[in-house]
Amino acid sequence: SRRRDVDDTLAGFALSTAQLQQVKEKMRRELELGLRKESHGSASVKMLPSYVYRTPDGTERGKFLALDLGGTNFRVLVVKIRSGIRKSVRMYNKIYAIPLEIMQGTGEELFDHIVQCISDFLDYMGMRNTCLPLGFTFSFPCRQTGIDKGILVNWTKGFKATDCEGNDVVDMLREAIKRRNEFDLDIVAVVNDTVGTMMTCAYEDPKCEIGLIAGTGSNVCYMEEMQNIESVEGDQGRMCVNTEWGGFGDNANIEDIRTRFDREVDEGSFNVGKQRFEKMTSGMYLGEIVRQILIDLTRRGLLFRGRITEPLKTRGIFETKFLSQIESDRLALLQVRSILQHLGLDSTCDDSIVVKEVCGTVSRRAARICGAGMAAVVDKIRENRGLDHLDITVGVDGTLYKLHPHFSRILKETVKELAPKCNVDFMLSEDGSGKGAALITAVARQHFRNT
Ligand code: BG6
Ligand code: GLC
Repeated sequence: SRRRDVDDTLAGFALSTAQLQQVKEKMRRELELGLRKESHGSASVKMLPSYVYRTPDGTERGKFLALDLGGTNFRVLVVKIRSGIRKSVRMYNKIYAIPLEIMQGTGEELFDHIVQCISDFLDYMGMRNTCLPLGFTFSFPCRQTGIDKGILVNWTKGFKATDCEGNDVVDMLREAIKRRNEFDLDIVAVVNDTVGTMMTCAYEDPKCEIGLIAGTGSNVCYMEEMQNIESVEGDQGRMCVNTEWGGFGDNANIEDIRTRFDREVDEGSFNVGKQRFEKMTSGMYLGEIVRQILIDLTRRGLLFRGRITEPLKTRGIFETKFLSQIESDRLALLQVRSILQHLGLDSTCDDSIVVKEVCGTVSRRAARICGAGMAAVVDKIRENRGLDHLDITVGVDGTLYKLHPHFSRILKETVKELAPKCNVDFMLSEDGSGKGAALITAVARQHFRNT
């Protein structure tokens, strides 16, 4: 029957608690491996040092520029931070588009475009003649050797501009500023979005020592003991580590939970074989997994009257916002049909039931394995500190977490189930990581002043 065929197709997505426990254990092992010196460059979870040694304490102050590149929106911001009892953060920002041909053109074109946007922003704010310190949130894996040095390891998500991988993104930005020859900027920090998010939330809640992005991509950072980070000198205190957990599974150690649909999504992507965990957990790919399943069901005559239409063949049609709408509990099936209609997919009432089920299955698995990964992180922190019980807050950002009706709840339930010795709070980052980049810039300047 149709029912049984659909159930069989989706069966590989239902993970048992035992399987999730295994995901947690494997993630833990990869976190440890990534911290080792000899793994440099080869670990699936890269564990990149951020050179951020502490979260904010309220003494940060000043006026900063920030850039936020790599999520849904590219932003330029000015951030004013006041310290002391009247501590506060004020921000002004503008969103700019990054056209597809620039994301996928040359590195020079990309950075020229960024500088063009900064120039427009400075005019817009009437700030052309001020040389403010700048924090650059750059949401891709960077091998850092200092707070203001970051070599792009490889592009992820939808970017593939040429001649950037292996180069320092701060240098590329500086050179583009020079080429334009209109204004000067003091680039103080390059920051991953997870780190910016953690800092933004830690400004309000000192218990926040983890940053999570569940958006276009998927990633986590957390405060690790310096003595455990082999690639950085020194044994005192802590440093925030950008895990780049999206690469978990790139050494083929989670093939048992990947389905043929995951493989198809991977094969149709820019970075085949890379970011396997990200491709099971983030907004850029969940819709693609759904689409692969729908194609399969249609081919087998179980959906859409067996007709594979153009929209169904179109990569990227199921954006996070559509998945989120389709799965909304308040939505009647008629409305699901009208969303599908809007995407160009003619559905019967039965079709819409199946589509909703497919979406739910895919996003549930994403939230559960993301939760298993988080359980590994919080338990590692707890053990680092020799505690029986850990109270900790995770700062979170990303459209999947924010828009999806069930993702965040299932994620939290899973963490609770798999890390019972930790009490984990989740705090939504309201203002994105631009604020965090400014806070890091402020902290970095204090650090320079004090050393
Ligand atoms: C934004 C942050 O709010 O969230 C970005 O400012 C981050 O730095 C982004 O990359 C992640 O979410 P998404 O869904 O836009 O990729
Ligand atoms: C990708 C990037 C990572 C970023 C994440 C969320 O995984 O590699 O650096 O943090 O997306 O935007």
